[in-house]
Amino acid sequence: MSQRTLVLLKPDAVRRGLVGEIIGRLESKADWRITALELRTLEKATLEQHYAEHVGKAFYPPLLDFMLSGPSIVMVVEGERVIEGVRTLAGPTDPIAAAPGSIRGDFGTIVRENLIHASDSEESAEREMKIFFPGLV
Ligand code: RTP
Ligand code: MG
Repeated sequence: MSQRTLVLLKPDAVRRGLVGEIIGRLESKADWRITALELRTLEKATLEQHYAEHVGKAFYPPLLDFMLSGPSIVMVVEGERVIEGVRTLAGPTDPIAAAPGSIRGDFGTIVRENLIHASDSEESAEREMKIFFPGLV
């Protein structure tokens, strides 16, 4: 089942020079393709839409500050079961709980600076692709 997912490499990944390493892992999966990609400093309004589900939580203000702290890589990845697949490659939200071999498990320490975002369902993927790539068909 071919799917599309919205992936962000967060400002920590860009700042630390991990973009090539992380994109390499995504590209290495058989039949997955990057179909849109941009280095972009995200706007506050865009992030407010993207993280609307977290408004009011204690971690929301520092999360937005972090996401505004430098450019991110914004991309769409396409391929077989890619929504679940990128979440698996990323590992769970807390990098200390994430298994070695996962992106967060290999490179992360604190929860906020966990390197990557990937859509968590087909509905989220559709919603998020529209936010970051409104022109995409
Ligand atoms: P994402 O949405 O970025 O793919 O990550 P996720 O589903 O694994 O995590 P989610 O619960 O949606 O949280 C969104 C992002 O907020 C930051 N966060 N900080 N307690 C904290 O300090 C905390 N909890 C979450 C992380 O950057 C997380 O990825
Ligand atoms: Mg999430």
